[in-house]
Amino acid sequence: MTIVFASNNEHKIREIKNILGNSFTLLSLSDINIKEGIPEDESLLEGNALSKARYIHNATGMNVFADDTGLETDALNGLPGVHSARFAGESKDPSANIEKVLSLLGSTENRKARFRTVIALIFEKKEYLFEGIVTGTIISEKRGKEGFGYDPVFIPDGKKQTFAEMELDEKNTISHRARAFEKLREFLNQYTLSNNKETI
Ligand code: IMP
Repeated sequence: MTIVFASNNEHKIREIKNILGNSFTLLSLSDINIKEGIPEDESLLEGNALSKARYIHNATGMNVFADDTGLETDALNGLPGVHSARFAGESKDPSANIEKVLSLLGSTENRKARFRTVIALIFEKKEYLFEGIVTGTIISEKRGKEGFGYDPVFIPDGKKQTFAEMELDEKNTISHRARAFEKLREFLNQYTLSNNKETI
């Protein structure tokens, strides 16, 4: 069974291929020759993920999933949330985004935050949502060189290192995205089993 991941992000495509294994043929947007940018202007992660998946499903009729992720802080009522990529402007500059979060948090003691990934799947014409969350703390200065985005200021609960100080493999076992992808994998595997097929 072939399924489209509505993304051209090489890093994510590798990660999800790793999780899904060989039972599925995974195609990226460039594999199906879709070059235009897909609008991401909804006010919730769920809305963005669904609108990307629907856009590709309407264009191709194929089974498809799309994801959207945000950093949600307690003290800022969930910001940057759905605005995470462009929090400090259209240039999507990760350092500027981090500076903006740190300056809005100021010296507040409540540093609780979470990364949340939502995956929208359109499968056999039905829509499904999967969520992955990792909770943690925002520290006040950047640490580490790995990862991307807000990783240098986020320490997941139960760990001492920021995501940017961890090996990618370690981050990938506990990350929001890995947890959401894992739920997608379970769903698709369940479908395979209940239909008594080796592959779907
Ligand atoms: P996307 O939906 O995966 O493109 O993520 C939107 C934005 O959330 C990114 O541009 C990053 O700023 C942030 N983000 C998503 N995932 C991560 C992560 O694993 N670590 C740090 N920041 C992330």
